Amino acid sequence: MIVSSETKQKIDIWLQKYPDSQKQSAVMEALRLAQLQNNNVLNSDVIKEIADYLQMPVIKVMEVASFYENYNFDIKEHQYQIRICHNISCMLNGGDDLIEYLEQKLKVQNGEITSDGKFQLKKVECLGACVGSPMMQIGDNYYENLTTEKLDEILESL
Ligand code: FES
Repeated sequence: MIVSSETKQKIDIWLQKYPDSQKQSAVMEALRLAQLQNNNVLNSDVIKEIADYLQMPVIKVMEVASFYENYNFDIKEHQYQIRICHNISCMLNGGDDLIEYLEQKLKVQNGEITSDGKFQLKKVECLGACVGSPMMQIGDNYYENLTTEKLDEILESL
C-alpha cells in the first residue's frame, strides 16, 4: 500500500463533504495528502491508488495532478523544491529581486536542480499568501515576508 490508511482516513474526511456519486470532488485534497505522505512527491503508483480510491479513471487523476503546480513529479525524495512566487503582490514587494538572489546563490535557473542535488528552484504563480509577500513554499511550509537574510537562514536550516 502506497497511500497509508492514515492518509486514507484524512481523505475520507474530505469525501464526507460530497455526495457518494461525486467522489472525484476530493481529488485535489487527496493528491495533496498523498503527496505529503510520500515525501512531497507523486508518482504513477500513488496516482493509480488515488484513482482507485476515488473510483476515477487514472487518466483523470493524472490530468489534475499534471495541470496544477501544487503537485511534484520531477523531484527526488529528500530534495527540497523551493517554490517561490513571482506573481503580482510578491513581485511588487521585491520577489523578483529575491528570485535573482536565489538564482545567483544556488547557481541555477528556474526549474533547475543545484549541483549537489539538494534544491530545485521553481517559480510559481500566486500561492494565496499575498498578505505575506514576498513568499515561497518549501514542502508544506510557507515562508513569508522574505528578505535575502531570511532566505539565507532558511536555506542554512535545511
Ligand atoms: Fe505571491 Fe499571491 S502574489 S502569494
